[in-house]
Amino acid sequence: MKQGKLFWFAIATLGILLSFSQLSPPTVETLGERLFFDPILSEDSTISCGSCHLPAFAFSDTTPFSKGVGGRLGRRNTQGITNMSSREHFFFDGRAATLEQQIMMPVQDSLEMRAHPALIEARLARHPEYAVLFQQLFQAPPNSELVSQAIAAYIRTLETSNTPFDRYMKGKPNGMDAAAVRGRRIFMNKGKCFDCHFTPDFTGDEFRNVGLYNGVEFQDKGRYNQTNDLADLGKFKVPGLRNVAVTGPYMHNGMFKTLEQVIEFYDTPDQFVKNPINRDTLLARPLGLSVAEKSDLKAFLEALTDDRWRK
Ligand code: HEC
Ligand code: HEC
Repeated sequence: MKQGKLFWFAIATLGILLSFSQLSPPTVETLGERLFFDPILSEDSTISCGSCHLPAFAFSDTTPFSKGVGGRLGRRNTQGITNMSSREHFFFDGRAATLEQQIMMPVQDSLEMRAHPALIEARLARHPEYAVLFQQLFQAPPNSELVSQAIAAYIRTLETSNTPFDRYMKGKPNGMDAAAVRGRRIFMNKGKCFDCHFTPDFTGDEFRNVGLYNGVEFQDKGRYNQTNDLADLGKFKVPGLRNVAVTGPYMHNGMFKTLEQVIEFYDTPDQFVKNPINRDTLLARPLGLSVAEKSDLKAFLEALTDDRWRK
């Protein structure tokens, strides 16, 4: 194609794309998506939810601790936030009971977006497009409750179930390979993983203690901070394991970079944390996994990755 023709071809294509984008009416979910990636929700308009929850890594971050406004470092690892629809608690200590409740917490958190709800509301109300979108969708001016509703609706669209594991369970082609099938057996039996990571998203939505609190080098008291109940000392929300292959580093403190290290930890936890307090009896003895069993277990965890993140 000559250059002139190419130019007009490009213009025509752009025109078609633009008219399409105007054809699809805005929804609460698309508004939520836009807000999720918009730094307008942070004090100095530099950080969005998507700055820490990166879409390419199942909406998690790749460092142990993410940076918020002004480069402040957070205190816990940024979790992936796929498959949140069925969760009963949010955050490692469960301090939010619903997604709607959860949303304004990072917005206001001094280490994250550090913005006052009134500031956000004023900014959105002044913004020509947001003001119109809120009116269209909610017949109301922007307010933090509606922001939470919209972002929560978007997060509920991040459900994933297109994995080798799901295909295997339904007897479809392209399911798990032999190593992952063996790994699943270890996950259910010898590894005892299934005792805590059950349900279709591989979490029981409970708080458990895998021994990452000892009051010395490991200081995060987890669920105890919410309940003040000594029985909760060192308990953390059991994370779901869908897409876990792409959400490292792992654990509330991001102490493990790879799944191999996590498996090594469960096999011989004493090697990693001395004198854990309140550790669950399921971790009382080394699992005694062989090299081959560890590798199979890893293959199973990798088979829980949605196709959109599989290489
Ligand atoms: C500065 C980084 C950062 C920003 C910005 C951020 N988050 Fe997070 N997010 C985290 C961290 C760290 C955690 C875990 C905190 C904890 O458990 O105490 C988390 C946890 C969550 C969870 C809970 C996941 C679970 O399994 O319980 C959700 C949902 C979430 N964030 C959504 C959002 C939304 C929505 C926004 C924007 C309004 C946002 N985050 C902004 C770092 C961030
Ligand atoms: C006693 C309950 C329990 C058992 C048994 C258990 N887990 Fe966990 N798992 C947890 C809890 C709680 C966490 C979060 C701990 C933290 O962040 O401090 C976790 C975290 C993880 C993570 C990190 C997820 C992330 O996003 O950071 C992986 C991977 C994992 N477990 C896999 C396994 C495997 C594989 C097994 C079996 C070998 C297993 N778990 C056995 C409760 C358990």
